[in-house]
Amino acid sequence: MLQEISQNKPNLIVTAHDMRMKRRLLLILIVIIVIIWLVGLRNRGTIGLSEAIAPELEIAALKQNLARLSAECKTSKLKYDPHLPIIYAITPTYARAVQKAELTRLSHTMMLVPNLHWVIVEDAESPSTLVSNLLKNSGITYTHLTAATPQEWKLPGKQGEQWKKPRGVLQRNTALQWLRNNLNADQDQGIIYFADDDNSYSLELFEEMRDTQVVSVWPVGLVGGIMVEKPLLNPKTGRVTGWNSVWSPNRPFPVDMAGFAINLGHFLRHPEAKFSFEAPRGHQESVILGHLTTRAQLEPKADNCTKVYVWHTRTEIPNLKYEEKLIKRGERTDEGMEV
Ligand SMILES: *[C@@H]1O[C@H](CO)[C@@H](O)[C@H](O)[C@H]1NC(C)=O
Repeated sequence: MLQEISQNKPNLIVTAHDMRMKRRLLLILIVIIVIIWLVGLRNRGTIGLSEAIAPELEIAALKQNLARLSAECKTSKLKYDPHLPIIYAITPTYARAVQKAELTRLSHTMMLVPNLHWVIVEDAESPSTLVSNLLKNSGITYTHLTAATPQEWKLPGKQGEQWKKPRGVLQRNTALQWLRNNLNADQDQGIIYFADDDNSYSLELFEEMRDTQVVSVWPVGLVGGIMVEKPLLNPKTGRVTGWNSVWSPNRPFPVDMAGFAINLGHFLRHPEAKFSFEAPRGHQESVILGHLTTRAQLEPKADNCTKVYVWHTRTEIPNLKYEEKLIKRGERTDEGMEV
């Protein structure tokens, strides 16, 4: 036992000495850990700071880029190709609750069509601010015309539907006259298309009509009381033999305004070609096409008239009954606002 104790004593002394050493080591270790932690904290702080600033700087730089690019897009003739015939898209339009919505939608289609010249004819005495600004801001090449329908042609009726003269004739003829006055049959390569502002257009449509030699035709969706009104082709020759129209099928050309395009040079060489104030409703297409072509001459497009690239969607007349009540009280929700 004694031996054991005496043997253990020096051991104990060593242990005490060790303890002191360990404590000192522990203290140093703690100090080192604290220093590392403090340095880490500072670094993390600076990382956190740069992480917070960088995205803001990046967003500011991107915003600057975006502003520069959109300015460039507006001033440049988007995708202008001098070898491609220009599509002269003629759109008659008139002031109504849905006008801005319709023209915004249509302009966003037009923006995506290369070599397009938009001829807009307002039924108004002078160009409206709404249409002027919309055209200016679109970046599209355009001509802004006006042709006011004489008051005596308009009969008081629901939405002006019972007019003495066919709607849009004056405006479309004004656009056609502008083409005759400003373009030359021998120099200008182009296509004429009547693009009303209440239809929906697929971009393929414009490429289909681009190589029209005389008059081209294709199906139109949701028109004439049926799902699709389309030319019928002779399967052997591929030429147009008739239409599947149900409404007034005996018209010489039972086709909708959105269902054909005319070669510009061919049109300019036929000075008598225009719309008529005398023709009954639904016969305007037959009037102008009768001056320009025959059924057998028509050029079927859209995969032999098997594809639909344009729809006569028509926008529902909005319900504004409370707005009308407000107007009667001398108030309105769109005061100082373009809707
Ligand atoms: C269209 O029809 C004609 C004649 O039937 C045929 O020769 C031609 O290949 C067809 N074109 C397409 C794109 O289907």
